[in-house]
Amino acid sequence: TAETETKVNGSTYKTDSWFNAPPNIIEKIPRRLHLQKDHPVSITRQIIESVFPAPTYEYHNDFNPVVTTHQNFDSLGFPKDHPGRAKSDTYYINSDTLLRTHTSAHQAETFRANLSDGYLISADVYRRDEVDRSHYPIFHQMEGARSWDRAEVPNGDIAAAVWSDIEKLPKHHIEVQDPNPPFHQERNPLQEGHHSAAEAEAVAAHLKKSLELMVVEIFTRAKAAAKKADPGFVDEPLQVRWVEAYFPFTSPSWELEVYYNGDWLEVLGSGVVKQDLYINAGVPSQLGWAFGIGLDRIAMLLFQIPDIRLFWSQDERFLSQFRGVSDNLDSLRRFVPFSRHPGCYKDVSFWLKSTSAAGGSTKANAHDFHANDVMEIVRGVAGDVVEDVKLVDSFTHPKTGRKSMCYRINYRSLERTLTNTETNDLHDAVNTALVQRLGVEIR
Ligand code: PHE
Repeated sequence: TAETETKVNGSTYKTDSWFNAPPNIIEKIPRRLHLQKDHPVSITRQIIESVFPAPTYEYHNDFNPVVTTHQNFDSLGFPKDHPGRAKSDTYYINSDTLLRTHTSAHQAETFRANLSDGYLISADVYRRDEVDRSHYPIFHQMEGARSWDRAEVPNGDIAAAVWSDIEKLPKHHIEVQDPNPPFHQERNPLQEGHHSAAEAEAVAAHLKKSLELMVVEIFTRAKAAAKKADPGFVDEPLQVRWVEAYFPFTSPSWELEVYYNGDWLEVLGSGVVKQDLYINAGVPSQLGWAFGIGLDRIAMLLFQIPDIRLFWSQDERFLSQFRGVSDNLDSLRRFVPFSRHPGCYKDVSFWLKSTSAAGGSTKANAHDFHANDVMEIVRGVAGDVVEDVKLVDSFTHPKTGRKSMCYRINYRSLERTLTNTETNDLHDAVNTALVQRLGVEIR
């Protein structure tokens, strides 16, 4: 097969059969919303940075989104068969190069560089996913870590050093439910081979206190904005809870959930860094914790932004509402939606290629069909004019065994009213692309 190339972010990469990053994704890579002054995603980054001050924490906001499978998966201990590695979930440039799916892709190299006690990384991340008002294939994460070096603390006593650092953290007043949820020892061991239970306990306590402080900062600002928009807003005390979680690169691991507006929201993943990461990064005498948080969902909540596509809008009616906030975080206000334009639903029903089809076709049959391929094709054709795509029906023909699916596509521009002809043309183009790319038969 002929070898081809693609240009991403100014560099040229060889592509192969793994290449699945479409032009509409690649062309957005230079946008870097997390660094765009007065953009809600960037403001959210600043709010989080304010809780993890320099010089203890060093900020890295510039890492290249094109990483190796080693950086994104292997260096973090992801098993070879981890579902996150699948082409259906991840954008590949070639078999060992991809668009990072999380900021953790930079953990190993940041530990290796060993520039400071802690760090914060903010970055654009990429995942193939469904299409709706809270999912977009590009979003932003922030990742932080804090490490202590056994060789540098008095008497090598990590636990004492960490507890004394906990004393220095600001006080907070929140209700923490389940501060110590039970653990499944097999899946979330305390890493007894590498540090003592007392050390693990101290590191976990520092992690929890630090992340609780971050949540207090975010939600205090969210409530202040709510109160500005609605003086009748009832301020309820903040409640958080720690829940056991699993990540291949931390143990034990937790998610932090926050009770806000009547719902428990999962806000971040975190844990005690697996010692193999420090060992492999050439700093075996260190230990510490790490966390990762999605910025877009937090920004939507802070500013009450109803649709994630708005972040990508260049419309002044959107952007003008945040001017000045980067320089004065206290001026943060909720977004005031501009009029919602009418949407238009259209269904597309098709038969998948029959599984027994001879001829070795590589197009989708019932075995390798993945919903994310439909999502991608619709986005490729209609871009940000598609609000959501939902599976409304699927069945298998009792006699022929063929599978039929029906997807409902909601076309709605955030900026203007679409004409009937425009929507029909888009839908026709989606139909054609589904036939060409997946080999389905429209019903
Ligand atoms: N990278 C993880 C995710 O994307 C989050 C995480 C970061 C968890 C650091 C633990 C430590 O889900």
